[in-house]
Amino acid sequence: MERTLGIIKPDAVSKGYAGKILAIIEENGFNIVGLKKIRLTKEKAEGFYYVHKDKPFFNSLTDFMSEGPIIVMVLEKENAIADWRKLMGATNPENAEEGTLRKMFAENIERNAVHGSDSPESAKYEISYFFNALELV
Ligand code: CMP
Repeated sequence: MERTLGIIKPDAVSKGYAGKILAIIEENGFNIVGLKKIRLTKEKAEGFYYVHKDKPFFNSLTDFMSEGPIIVMVLEKENAIADWRKLMGATNPENAEEGTLRKMFAENIERNAVHGSDSPESAKYEISYFFNALELV
């Protein structure tokens, strides 16, 4: 079994898509072992996305991620990291395949509805950024 960190981003939460996205996650065989609704500060968003700190979109991205509530989740299944990325679809919804979450719910390359860890190392960092062991059931 593998675990990954998923986020329903402020754009999707504010538009009321969270319930639909959670249903799709369960229909696709993920066990939701951790879940909470939180609001990031700008600083907490910067810490989460520190690998992108030199990118031109860093300031805008961290403003966006702290503009309203998000839902952070730990998703578990075999091959969870790759399978969650496949279900999300391409970063830019213009390139996302039919049936993917970003095709269905994203606005644009930044306001793209969902996030997922991109490797086992980042999953470990990202899960521990939001959850302690007692919160994973
Ligand atoms: P995510 O998968 O959370 O990882 C980094 C985020 O940065 C990405 O989703 C988008 O929200 C954002 N992002 C990536 N590329 C761009 C870009 N070219 N312009 C603006 N935002 C971007």
